[in-house]
Amino acid sequence: MCGIVGYIGTKKACPILLVGLSRLEYRGYDSAGISTIEKDGLSLVKDKGRVKVLESNQEIEKLDGTIGIAHTRWATHGKPSKENSHPHQDNSKTFSVVHNGIIENYHELRNMLEQNGYNFLSQTDTEVIPNLIHYYFTKNQDSSVHGFLQAVRDCCLSLKGSFALEIISKLFPENMIVVRKDSPLVIGTCEDEKYISSDIPAILSYTRDFYLLNDLEFALLKNTEAKFYDTDLNEIDKRTSSIEWTATASEKNGYDDFMLKEIYEQPTAIRETLGAKISLNSKCNFDELKFTKEYLSNIEKIYIIACGTAMHAGLAGKNVIEKLCRIPVEVDIASEFRYRDPIINEKTLSIFISQSGETADTIAALKLAKASGSKTLAISNVIGSSITREADYSIYTHAGPEIAVASTKAYTSQVVLLNMLAVYFSEILENQPLDVINKIKQEMLDLPKKITKTFKCKNEIKAFAKKIYQEKDVFFLGRGIDETVAKEGSLKLKEISYIHSESYAAGELKHGSIALIENGVTVISVLMDKALIEKSISNIQEVISRGAKTLVVTSHDCDENMFDKVIKVPDTITYLSPIIAIIPLQLLAYYISKEKGLDVDKPRNLAKSVTVE
Ligand code: F6R
Repeated sequence: MCGIVGYIGTKKACPILLVGLSRLEYRGYDSAGISTIEKDGLSLVKDKGRVKVLESNQEIEKLDGTIGIAHTRWATHGKPSKENSHPHQDNSKTFSVVHNGIIENYHELRNMLEQNGYNFLSQTDTEVIPNLIHYYFTKNQDSSVHGFLQAVRDCCLSLKGSFALEIISKLFPENMIVVRKDSPLVIGTCEDEKYISSDIPAILSYTRDFYLLNDLEFALLKNTEAKFYDTDLNEIDKRTSSIEWTATASEKNGYDDFMLKEIYEQPTAIRETLGAKISLNSKCNFDELKFTKEYLSNIEKIYIIACGTAMHAGLAGKNVIEKLCRIPVEVDIASEFRYRDPIINEKTLSIFISQSGETADTIAALKLAKASGSKTLAISNVIGSSITREADYSIYTHAGPEIAVASTKAYTSQVVLLNMLAVYFSEILENQPLDVINKIKQEMLDLPKKITKTFKCKNEIKAFAKKIYQEKDVFFLGRGIDETVAKEGSLKLKEISYIHSESYAAGELKHGSIALIENGVTVISVLMDKALIEKSISNIQEVISRGAKTLVVTSHDCDENMFDKVIKVPDTITYLSPIIAIIPLQLLAYYISKEKGLDVDKPRNLAKSVTVE
């Protein structure tokens, strides 16, 4: 939540910062602002509204500085307003700061600063930071650049919560300091330029070489230099990581919206995630994992922990891991897992799934599991993201940058990766016949082709979207693994179309919720698991007889006259069926949102990366 971008180089900073902000808008878009180092001190231009509003501000034209910081906000403390927008400055306007995260002890710090004569102009938690830096800078009486660094360090050690910060000062017109704790931040580097951003895609068009900061590592930047320090301000050695993603992967490339582009990228995302790891003639190859037969045989429980869509992928993963490996799997929402005193020990393996790798609750749950003796395995789409740095082991989906707030290609890539992991475990455990394993592998390899075939339902879905886009409530049903797809379909619909929707285990409906079904209500059912199809059809009959309109997504033959609309999709094995069945539901949510004229990529109240708890 909130996007921050920074530039330090030889060109005018402002245009570069504005481009960066527009690429980060998916992280928050209620206000935006910029501060640059100008000849006469620090500039500050900010306002409520989107980046476009900032771009049209006449003050922007006047900014010539080659060092600057910028911010696009998702409000946490204080409503969207000019005063609450970032950057924030200290009372003497010596330091400008942008912040992503939450300062939990800001009340206490604000009181302390007020007692020391500081005034506050905003309701934000962030405004304590520039004032605290000023407080320590004055107190430490070291006016060198080392004193600047020390003041930032002292400030950060006083903060509780999460933060990614960029700080500039009129006293140090060649420098910028950046630091992070539990919030994302990367530093892109070229010969005489440094680009700082909340995520890699926003600055991919400038460089593919990045420094990745660990918690509470401080970077003191000049255009030609990057020095790194630990909390004792000892200099530390840091190497760059090269990122494979291309800049065009972060652009719409002719599509109206990122979401549609990302839906259509799913065959490639799956192909890239499978990579060379799956082949019929050799064992599944996860070189980065070092699991042994002895370790896996002794595991009593696997936890899969994630949030939102990633958690839905985990539910699909539970199915295949339990069936192939015969190890019990518990799937939990990260924000619940943390607070329910879970039973974890060295005989538990904990798997954490996060597209961004920066979700605050998932990171906190990972730290808890690790501290309780469990081995931790991270699944992320972002190389070097926080969860991958915290976990004992990491594996990656190779979906490419996912920009739309609603997750699509990351979800299907996560489901395929969990299937690959199940096969890998099972091959180590030597507990499944070769033909069973080979069948799964073959089906995985066939997925890109089958997803492409599934896209043929686009026009039927578009027509159905036109029929139901004004609905107030939509229900999703499924049994077994189909219920996990129903959950994900329902989430997609509500987040981008703002239609209220619920998903239910089809057999559970009659235990209460069927009371909500009345004439004309839309019920969408997923019927992919052949073993359960008869039972699910009986449940659909129950809603039809109460007047429901029905859409069915299935790969099986059924009496199409029974339903209002049947979307036929290619057949695959049950474990992989969520990857096929979700495609029409992603498209349905997309076309309903378009029909309603909504901003598909940036739905209201949501941000792509949830870095607050
Ligand atoms: C929904 C969606 C969210 C994310 C969730 C976790 O479309 O995108 O539900 O799945 O916020 O995000 P990550 O995977 O980045 O941890």
